[in-house]
Amino acid sequence: MDRCKKDFGDDFIWGVSTAAYQIEGAHNTDGKGASIWDTFVQKKNKIFGKQDANVACDFYNRYAADLALMRRMNIPNYRFSIAWSRILPQGTGEINGLGIDFYNRIIDLALELGITPWVTLYHWDLPQALEDKGGWTNRDVKDWFADYVAICVKHFGDRVKNWIVINEPTVFTGAGYFFGVHAPGKKGFNNFLAAAHHTALAQAGGARIIKSLQTGSNVGTSFSCSHIEPYTARNKDKIAAAKADALLNRFFIEPLLGMGYPTQEIKALRKIEKYMQQNDEANLQFNMDFIGIQNYTREIIRHTLFVPFLQAKIVSAQKRKVETTAMNWEVYPESIYEVLKKYSSYANIPPLIITENGAAFTDELVDCKVHDPKRKAYLQQAIEQVYRAKNKGLNVHGYFVWTFLDNFEWAEGYRPRFGLVHVDFENQKRIVKSSGKWYADFLK
Ligand code: GAL
Repeated sequence: MDRCKKDFGDDFIWGVSTAAYQIEGAHNTDGKGASIWDTFVQKKNKIFGKQDANVACDFYNRYAADLALMRRMNIPNYRFSIAWSRILPQGTGEINGLGIDFYNRIIDLALELGITPWVTLYHWDLPQALEDKGGWTNRDVKDWFADYVAICVKHFGDRVKNWIVINEPTVFTGAGYFFGVHAPGKKGFNNFLAAAHHTALAQAGGARIIKSLQTGSNVGTSFSCSHIEPYTARNKDKIAAAKADALLNRFFIEPLLGMGYPTQEIKALRKIEKYMQQNDEANLQFNMDFIGIQNYTREIIRHTLFVPFLQAKIVSAQKRKVETTAMNWEVYPESIYEVLKKYSSYANIPPLIITENGAAFTDELVDCKVHDPKRKAYLQQAIEQVYRAKNKGLNVHGYFVWTFLDNFEWAEGYRPRFGLVHVDFENQKRIVKSSGKWYADFLK
């Protein structure tokens, strides 16, 4: 049976998500400062096809038509991020009024159209000026971030109530500061641990600031989560899976819940203590109003001696010969149910909202139409799993599709298309895909 919106009740929150760097373009327009992504895309061999997001979806100039389209697609909630370096070109200090104006225009128009804004304060685009001082590896970043958050609340808090402090700390600290495959391209365990700890502090600290400045605010933060299973029933694989789970799913939520870092499973994580100062443990804790869950797939983990610290590795979906998306991620709808179950089982967990879920598939444009049955099926199956979770009494209250428009998919460039709306990057023409039409119908 096809699920319908009413099965979820009137209070369930439906929406779409985007991120500033992936859609806005206008990378140096109207006083915007450079971010670490503006720098990173210029480095050799970092981005597929040497692409960048200098223009991306040109949302900076086309936001009005895009929001109007969102309205026509019956989308009631829009999650987008603020580019820190549009507001503070140097990361701290002088405010760029034109940057404030841009987000004011988006917020005002969204509200006028009946679309509720959900603002992510950090979706990976640190001002380059701050990276020059060490970025997330410099402990001062938590104070720079706190100042930036306060400015956003002061300027937008009269109209924005819903805040997501940080997007996927595990992914940007891992990819950006351990593997060097995302901005700023730093590598190594020490960079990763320092960045991770400062991010965790900034996350709780940022939320504390919003709560102190704005009564009635709804504050959360978003975590990447994957259901994890061992490759075989061998003990070694089970231990490897538990380690991967600690790193990928538990590393940031547990200190936030006051449980400390999950160092039991991964002894090497204890080195994070080197970056801890008095009161940090208490400061890492914060009672969020909600937790954003971002899920795309599951991971199968096996033991290996070749990966230092972890002795665990992912068995790729390709190797397992299972159905995949264009990101080579396994299509496994039950994952979303499993992660909701896992997070719901923490004591004192606040309400959960799926702040991202979606899929990239190779789309074909035929006669000005994009027929994408795989994406529609992926979303329907995921939503069915969310329903299953809700029906079992799990603590889930909303679902946002990643993403509204095809956009710049980080190191993968423009190749993977995740949008409900097709974008022709030659002429910026938008075409609602059949999955988008289905979602619009579902939301009616
Ligand atoms: C998330 C990220 C998004 C988007 C998505 C699809 O990790 O927050 O920006 O890229 O994955 O890969």
